[in-house]
Amino acid sequence: MLAKPGIQTISAYQGGRPVEEVQRELGLSDVIKLASNENPLGPSKRALDAMAEAVASVHHYPDGNAFYLKNAVAAFHGVGPEQLLFGNGSSEVLQILGETYIAPGDHIVYPQQSFVVYPLMAAIFDARTSTPPMRADTYDLGAIATAVTDETKLVLIANPNNPTGTYVTKTQLDAFFDAIPSSPLVVLDEAYFEYVDRDDYPDGLDYLRAGRNVIVTRTFSKAYGLAGLRVGYGIASPEVVEMMNRARPPFNVNSLAQVAALAALEDVEHVTRSREVNAAGMTYLTAALARLGVAYVPSVANFLLVHLRRDGRSVTDALTRRGVIVRPMHAYAYPQSVRVTVGTEAQNQRFIAALAEVLGEIPEAS
Ligand SMILES: Cc1ncc(COP(=O)(O)O)c(C=O)c1O
Repeated sequence: MLAKPGIQTISAYQGGRPVEEVQRELGLSDVIKLASNENPLGPSKRALDAMAEAVASVHHYPDGNAFYLKNAVAAFHGVGPEQLLFGNGSSEVLQILGETYIAPGDHIVYPQQSFVVYPLMAAIFDARTSTPPMRADTYDLGAIATAVTDETKLVLIANPNNPTGTYVTKTQLDAFFDAIPSSPLVVLDEAYFEYVDRDDYPDGLDYLRAGRNVIVTRTFSKAYGLAGLRVGYGIASPEVVEMMNRARPPFNVNSLAQVAALAALEDVEHVTRSREVNAAGMTYLTAALARLGVAYVPSVANFLLVHLRRDGRSVTDALTRRGVIVRPMHAYAYPQSVRVTVGTEAQNQRFIAALAEVLGEIPEAS
Protein backbone atom coordinates (compact mmCIF):
# COMPACT_ATOMS: atom_id res chain seq x y z
CA MET A 1 0.00 0.00 0.00
CA LEU A 2 1.49 3.33 -1.02
CA ALA A 3 1.95 6.12 1.50
CA LYS A 4 0.40 9.51 0.66
CA PRO A 5 2.27 11.40 -2.09
CA GLY A 6 3.64 14.06 0.29
CA ILE A 7 4.97 11.47 2.74
CA GLN A 8 6.93 9.85 -0.06
CA THR A 9 8.80 13.09 -0.72
CA ILE A 10 10.21 13.66 2.80
CA SER A 11 12.54 12.05 5.33
CA ALA A 12 11.77 11.67 9.02
CA TYR A 13 12.62 14.65 11.26
CA GLN A 14 16.14 14.36 12.62
CA GLY A 15 16.71 15.97 16.00
CA GLY A 16 20.00 16.73 17.72
CA ARG A 17 21.87 13.56 18.71
CA PRO A 18 21.18 12.50 22.31
CA VAL A 19 24.14 12.62 24.73
CA GLU A 20 23.71 8.91 25.58
CA GLU A 21 23.89 7.91 21.90
CA VAL A 22 27.18 9.75 21.38
CA GLN A 23 28.60 8.33 24.62
CA ARG A 24 27.62 4.81 23.55
CA GLU A 25 28.78 5.03 19.95
CA LEU A 26 32.05 6.92 20.47
CA GLY A 27 32.94 5.51 23.90
CA LEU A 28 33.07 9.01 25.39
CA SER A 29 32.06 9.78 28.97
CA ASP A 30 32.09 13.58 29.02
CA VAL A 31 29.70 14.79 26.34
CA ILE A 32 27.80 18.09 26.11
CA LYS A 33 24.82 18.78 23.88
CA LEU A 34 24.46 22.21 22.31
CA ALA A 35 22.29 20.95 19.47
CA SER A 36 18.62 21.43 20.32
CA ASN A 37 18.31 24.89 21.90
CA GLU A 38 17.59 23.39 25.31
CA ASN A 39 18.03 25.29 28.58
CA PRO A 40 21.54 24.58 29.92
CA LEU A 41 20.39 25.32 33.49
CA GLY A 42 17.94 22.42 33.37
CA PRO A 43 14.40 22.47 34.73
CA SER A 44 13.19 24.64 37.59
CA LYS A 45 13.45 22.99 41.02
CA ARG A 46 9.80 23.80 41.56
CA ALA A 47 8.86 21.82 38.45
CA LEU A 48 10.82 18.82 39.73
CA ASP A 49 9.11 18.99 43.12
CA ALA A 50 5.68 19.24 41.52
CA MET A 51 6.38 16.17 39.40
CA ALA A 52 7.69 14.18 42.37
CA GLU A 53 4.41 14.83 44.15
CA ALA A 54 2.28 13.96 41.13
CA VAL A 55 4.11 10.80 40.13
CA ALA A 56 2.07 8.55 42.45
CA SER A 57 -1.06 9.39 40.42
CA VAL A 58 0.14 8.32 37.00
CA HIS A 59 -2.29 5.39 36.97
CA HIS A 60 -4.94 8.02 36.17
CA TYR A 61 -5.32 9.52 32.72
CA PRO A 62 -4.32 13.17 32.64
CA ASP A 63 -6.93 15.92 32.62
CA GLY A 64 -7.58 16.10 28.88
CA ASN A 65 -8.66 19.72 29.29
CA ALA A 66 -5.50 20.65 31.31
CA PHE A 67 -7.76 22.72 33.59
CA TYR A 68 -5.23 24.08 36.10
CA LEU A 69 -2.46 24.69 33.59
CA LYS A 70 -4.88 26.31 31.17
CA ASN A 71 -6.24 28.70 33.78
CA ALA A 72 -2.77 29.64 34.99
CA VAL A 73 -1.48 30.31 31.46
CA ALA A 74 -4.67 32.25 30.63
CA ALA A 75 -4.17 34.49 33.69
CA PHE A 76 -0.46 34.86 32.88
CA HIS A 77 -1.23 36.20 29.40
CA GLY A 78 -4.48 37.97 30.19
CA VAL A 79 -6.48 35.84 27.74
CA GLY A 80 -9.50 33.59 28.24
CA PRO A 81 -8.98 29.86 28.89
CA GLU A 82 -11.14 29.22 25.81
CA GLN A 83 -8.34 30.82 23.76
CA LEU A 84 -5.75 28.17 24.68
CA LEU A 85 -4.92 24.82 23.17
CA PHE A 86 -2.14 22.68 24.64
CA GLY A 87 0.03 20.29 22.68
CA ASN A 88 2.71 17.68 23.14
CA GLY A 89 5.21 20.44 22.48
CA SER A 90 4.27 23.39 20.28
CA SER A 91 5.18 21.12 17.33
CA GLU A 92 2.02 19.18 18.06
CA VAL A 93 0.02 22.40 18.03
CA LEU A 94 1.30 22.91 14.46
CA GLN A 95 0.35 19.33 13.61
CA ILE A 96 -3.18 19.85 14.99
CA LEU A 97 -3.41 23.07 12.99
CA GLY A 98 -2.65 21.08 9.85
CA GLU A 99 -5.21 18.41 10.76
CA THR A 100 -7.82 21.10 11.35
CA TYR A 101 -7.27 23.40 8.39
CA ILE A 102 -5.13 21.90 5.60
CA ALA A 103 -6.82 19.78 2.94
CA PRO A 104 -4.77 18.39 0.00
CA GLY A 105 -3.87 21.21 -2.42
CA ASP A 106 -4.46 24.03 0.07
CA HIS A 107 -1.96 26.87 -0.18
CA ILE A 108 0.43 27.64 2.64
CA VAL A 109 3.33 30.11 2.82
CA TYR A 110 6.54 30.02 4.86
CA PRO A 111 10.07 31.17 4.04
CA GLN A 112 12.82 28.97 2.69
CA GLN A 113 15.15 28.81 5.66
CA SER A 114 12.90 28.45 8.63
CA PHE A 115 11.90 25.71 11.08
CA VAL A 116 12.16 22.31 9.29
CA VAL A 117 8.85 21.18 10.75
CA TYR A 118 7.02 23.62 8.39
CA PRO A 119 7.95 21.81 5.14
CA LEU A 120 7.32 18.45 6.83
CA MET A 121 3.86 19.64 7.81
CA ALA A 122 3.19 20.92 4.29
CA ALA A 123 4.17 17.54 2.83
CA ILE A 124 2.19 15.49 5.36
CA PHE A 125 -1.00 17.40 4.55
CA ASP A 126 -0.24 17.55 0.80
CA ALA A 127 -0.37 21.34 0.80
CA ARG A 128 0.65 23.58 -2.07
CA THR A 129 3.47 25.80 -0.89
CA SER A 130 5.12 29.12 -1.63
CA THR A 131 8.50 29.48 0.03
CA PRO A 132 9.99 32.94 -0.63
CA PRO A 133 13.75 33.26 -0.08
CA MET A 134 15.22 34.96 2.96
CA ARG A 135 17.14 38.21 2.69
CA ALA A 136 20.47 38.39 4.56
CA ASP A 137 19.47 35.44 6.78
CA THR A 138 16.29 37.29 7.81
CA TYR A 139 12.62 36.89 6.90
CA ASP A 140 11.63 39.01 3.93
CA LEU A 141 8.07 39.85 4.98
CA GLY A 142 7.52 41.85 1.80
CA ALA A 143 8.20 38.74 -0.30
CA ILE A 144 6.03 36.64 2.00
CA ALA A 145 3.16 39.15 1.70
CA THR A 146 3.50 39.04 -2.10
CA ALA A 147 3.20 35.23 -2.02
CA VAL A 148 -0.04 35.36 0.00
CA THR A 149 -3.25 35.29 -2.05
CA ASP A 150 -6.97 35.24 -1.25
CA GLU A 151 -6.71 31.44 -1.40
CA THR A 152 -3.85 31.10 1.11
CA LYS A 153 -4.92 29.09 4.16
CA LEU A 154 -1.91 29.40 6.44
CA VAL A 155 1.21 31.58 6.80
CA LEU A 156 3.99 30.45 9.15
CA ILE A 157 6.27 33.01 10.78
CA ALA A 158 8.87 31.98 13.34
CA ASN A 159 9.84 35.05 15.34
CA PRO A 160 12.68 34.75 16.20
CA ASN A 161 13.47 32.36 13.39
CA ASN A 162 15.16 29.01 13.81
CA PRO A 163 17.94 28.45 12.67
CA THR A 164 19.03 32.05 12.05
CA GLY A 165 18.03 33.63 15.40
CA THR A 166 16.93 36.77 13.54
CA TYR A 167 13.61 38.51 14.15
CA VAL A 168 11.08 40.68 12.38
CA THR A 169 10.27 44.02 13.98
CA LYS A 170 6.91 45.39 15.04
CA THR A 171 6.98 47.92 12.20
CA GLN A 172 7.64 45.15 9.66
CA LEU A 173 4.94 42.90 11.09
CA ASP A 174 2.39 45.76 11.17
CA ALA A 175 3.10 46.48 7.50
CA PHE A 176 2.81 42.77 6.68
CA PHE A 177 -0.64 42.44 8.26
CA ASP A 178 -1.77 45.61 6.48
CA ALA A 179 -0.62 44.16 3.16
CA ILE A 180 -2.27 40.73 3.27
CA PRO A 181 -5.93 39.71 3.09
CA SER A 182 -7.55 38.82 6.43
CA SER A 183 -8.47 35.30 5.28
CA PRO A 184 -5.29 33.28 5.98
CA LEU A 185 -4.55 32.19 9.51
CA VAL A 186 -1.10 33.52 10.42
CA VAL A 187 0.96 31.41 12.82
CA LEU A 188 3.30 33.52 14.94
CA ASP A 189 5.65 30.84 16.23
CA GLU A 190 7.28 32.38 19.31
CA ALA A 191 9.17 29.39 20.72
CA TYR A 192 12.05 31.66 21.79
CA PHE A 193 9.93 34.63 22.93
CA GLU A 194 11.30 34.74 26.50
CA TYR A 195 14.89 35.22 25.34
CA VAL A 196 14.33 38.27 23.15
CA ASP A 197 15.38 41.58 24.64
CA ARG A 198 14.71 44.17 21.93
CA ASP A 199 12.38 47.16 22.13
CA ASP A 200 11.09 46.69 18.58
CA TYR A 201 10.34 42.96 19.01
CA PRO A 202 6.59 42.48 18.58
CA ASP A 203 4.44 40.43 20.98
CA GLY A 204 2.20 38.24 18.83
CA LEU A 205 -0.59 38.51 21.38
CA ASP A 206 -1.03 42.20 20.50
CA TYR A 207 -2.08 41.14 16.98
CA LEU A 208 -4.55 38.63 18.39
CA ARG A 209 -5.99 41.31 20.69
CA ALA A 210 -6.26 43.69 17.71
CA GLY A 211 -8.51 41.13 16.00
CA ARG A 212 -6.01 39.80 13.46
CA ASN A 213 -6.49 36.21 12.28
CA VAL A 214 -3.50 34.76 14.17
CA ILE A 215 -2.48 31.89 16.37
CA VAL A 216 0.51 32.53 18.62
CA THR A 217 2.49 29.46 19.67
CA ARG A 218 4.71 29.29 22.74
CA THR A 219 6.52 26.45 24.46
CA PHE A 220 7.84 25.20 27.80
CA SER A 221 10.74 23.51 25.94
CA LYS A 222 13.18 26.42 25.79
CA ALA A 223 13.47 29.11 28.50
CA TYR A 224 11.31 27.03 30.87
CA GLY A 225 13.65 24.05 30.51
CA LEU A 226 11.06 21.29 30.01
CA ALA A 227 11.84 20.03 26.49
CA GLY A 228 11.73 16.38 27.57
CA LEU A 229 8.19 16.67 28.91
CA ARG A 230 6.73 18.00 25.65
CA VAL A 231 4.37 20.82 26.44
CA GLY A 232 3.56 23.86 24.37
CA TYR A 233 0.44 25.79 23.46
CA GLY A 234 -1.38 27.92 20.95
CA ILE A 235 -3.29 31.11 21.74
CA ALA A 236 -5.99 32.05 19.25
CA SER A 237 -9.63 33.10 18.97
CA PRO A 238 -12.12 30.83 20.77
CA GLU A 239 -13.47 29.80 17.33
CA VAL A 240 -10.06 28.58 16.11
CA VAL A 241 -9.38 26.78 19.40
CA GLU A 242 -12.81 25.13 19.30
CA MET A 243 -12.11 23.75 15.80
CA MET A 244 -8.59 22.60 16.70
CA ASN A 245 -9.86 20.85 19.83
CA ARG A 246 -11.89 18.56 17.57
CA ALA A 247 -8.66 17.35 15.93
CA ARG A 248 -6.58 17.20 19.13
CA PRO A 249 -5.69 13.65 20.19
CA PRO A 250 -7.21 12.72 23.57
CA PHE A 251 -4.93 13.19 26.61
CA ASN A 252 -2.16 14.65 24.44
CA VAL A 253 -0.36 16.39 27.34
CA ASN A 254 0.59 13.99 30.12
CA SER A 255 -0.11 14.63 33.79
CA LEU A 256 3.53 15.17 34.87
CA ALA A 257 4.04 17.67 32.06
CA GLN A 258 0.94 19.57 33.17
CA VAL A 259 2.00 19.98 36.80
CA ALA A 260 5.63 20.71 35.88
CA ALA A 261 4.64 23.39 33.35
CA LEU A 262 2.37 25.05 35.91
CA ALA A 263 5.18 25.12 38.50
CA ALA A 264 7.70 26.34 35.90
CA LEU A 265 5.37 29.16 34.87
CA GLU A 266 5.33 30.36 38.47
CA ASP A 267 9.12 30.08 38.85
CA VAL A 268 9.82 33.53 37.44
CA GLU A 269 13.31 33.54 38.98
CA HIS A 270 14.38 30.51 36.98
CA VAL A 271 13.32 32.11 33.71
CA THR A 272 15.07 35.36 34.66
CA ARG A 273 18.29 33.49 35.46
CA SER A 274 18.00 31.53 32.22
CA ARG A 275 17.74 34.78 30.27
CA GLU A 276 20.74 36.25 32.08
CA VAL A 277 22.94 33.19 31.55
CA ASN A 278 21.92 33.18 27.90
CA ALA A 279 22.74 36.87 27.42
CA ALA A 280 26.17 36.46 29.04
CA GLY A 281 26.84 33.31 26.99
CA MET A 282 25.82 35.05 23.78
CA THR A 283 28.24 37.90 24.50
CA TYR A 284 31.06 35.45 25.18
CA LEU A 285 30.37 33.26 22.12
CA THR A 286 30.06 36.11 19.63
CA ALA A 287 33.29 37.72 20.85
CA ALA A 288 35.12 34.38 20.76
CA LEU A 289 33.86 33.58 17.25
CA ALA A 290 34.92 37.02 16.05
CA ARG A 291 38.40 36.38 17.50
CA LEU A 292 38.56 33.10 15.55
CA GLY A 293 37.54 34.97 12.40
CA VAL A 294 34.35 32.93 12.11
CA ALA A 295 31.18 34.51 10.70
CA TYR A 296 27.88 34.14 12.56
CA VAL A 297 24.38 35.56 12.26
CA PRO A 298 23.60 38.00 15.11
CA SER A 299 20.89 36.26 17.15
CA VAL A 300 18.25 37.37 19.66
CA ALA A 301 17.48 33.78 20.71
CA ASN A 302 19.46 31.10 22.60
CA PHE A 303 21.44 29.78 19.64
CA LEU A 304 23.76 30.95 16.89
CA LEU A 305 24.00 30.06 13.23
CA VAL A 306 27.71 29.85 12.53
CA HIS A 307 28.98 30.05 8.94
CA LEU A 308 32.20 28.04 8.62
CA ARG A 309 33.13 27.93 4.92
CA ARG A 310 33.62 24.20 5.52
CA ASP A 311 31.28 21.23 5.18
CA GLY A 312 28.97 21.54 8.20
CA ARG A 313 28.60 17.80 8.60
CA SER A 314 32.38 17.26 8.74
CA VAL A 315 32.73 20.00 11.35
CA THR A 316 29.84 18.52 13.35
CA ASP A 317 31.43 15.05 13.27
CA ALA A 318 34.81 16.42 14.35
CA LEU A 319 33.20 18.35 17.22
CA THR A 320 31.21 15.26 18.23
CA ARG A 321 34.44 13.24 18.46
CA ARG A 322 35.54 15.88 20.98
CA GLY A 323 32.33 15.39 22.96
CA VAL A 324 30.55 18.54 21.75
CA ILE A 325 27.26 17.94 19.94
CA VAL A 326 26.05 20.73 17.63
CA ARG A 327 23.61 20.66 14.72
CA PRO A 328 24.66 20.51 11.06
CA MET A 329 22.47 22.76 8.93
CA HIS A 330 22.23 21.05 5.51
CA ALA A 331 18.55 20.29 6.16
CA TYR A 332 18.05 24.07 6.38
CA ALA A 333 19.99 24.69 3.13
CA TYR A 334 23.04 26.01 4.98
CA PRO A 335 25.50 23.23 4.04
CA GLN A 336 28.56 25.08 5.37
CA SER A 337 27.09 26.09 8.73
CA VAL A 338 26.32 24.64 12.14
CA ARG A 339 23.89 25.83 14.78
CA VAL A 340 25.11 25.94 18.36
CA THR A 341 22.98 26.47 21.45
CA VAL A 342 24.25 28.92 24.05
CA GLY A 343 25.30 26.78 27.02
CA THR A 344 26.72 27.39 30.46
CA GLU A 345 29.97 29.33 30.69
CA ALA A 346 32.01 26.11 30.88
CA GLN A 347 30.12 24.55 27.94
CA ASN A 348 30.62 27.64 25.79
CA GLN A 349 34.34 27.65 26.50
CA ARG A 350 34.58 23.99 25.65
CA PHE A 351 32.76 24.54 22.35
CA ILE A 352 35.07 27.40 21.37
CA ALA A 353 38.22 25.41 22.27
CA ALA A 354 36.97 22.40 20.28
CA LEU A 355 35.97 24.56 17.32
CA ALA A 356 39.38 26.24 17.23
CA GLU A 357 41.01 22.78 16.99
CA VAL A 358 38.60 21.59 14.31
CA LEU A 359 39.07 24.69 12.16
CA GLY A 360 42.80 24.00 12.21
CA GLU A 361 42.16 20.40 11.16
CA ILE A 362 39.62 20.91 8.34
CA PRO A 363 40.75 23.28 5.57
CA GLU A 364 38.36 25.87 4.13
CA ALA A 365 36.36 24.70 1.13
CA SER A 366 37.58 26.25 -2.10
C1 LIG B 1 10.82 27.86 15.75
C2 LIG B 1 10.42 26.67 16.58
N1 LIG B 1 9.14 26.42 16.77
C3 LIG B 1 8.71 25.38 17.49
C4 LIG B 1 9.62 24.51 18.06
C5 LIG B 1 9.06 23.31 18.75
O1 LIG B 1 9.32 23.20 20.05
P1 LIG B 1 8.47 22.23 20.96
O2 LIG B 1 7.73 21.25 20.10
O3 LIG B 1 9.48 21.55 21.82
O4 LIG B 1 7.54 23.11 21.72
C6 LIG B 1 10.98 24.71 17.88
C7 LIG B 1 11.95 23.76 18.47
O5 LIG B 1 13.08 23.70 18.16
C8 LIG B 1 11.40 25.82 17.12
O6 LIG B 1 12.69 26.06 16.90
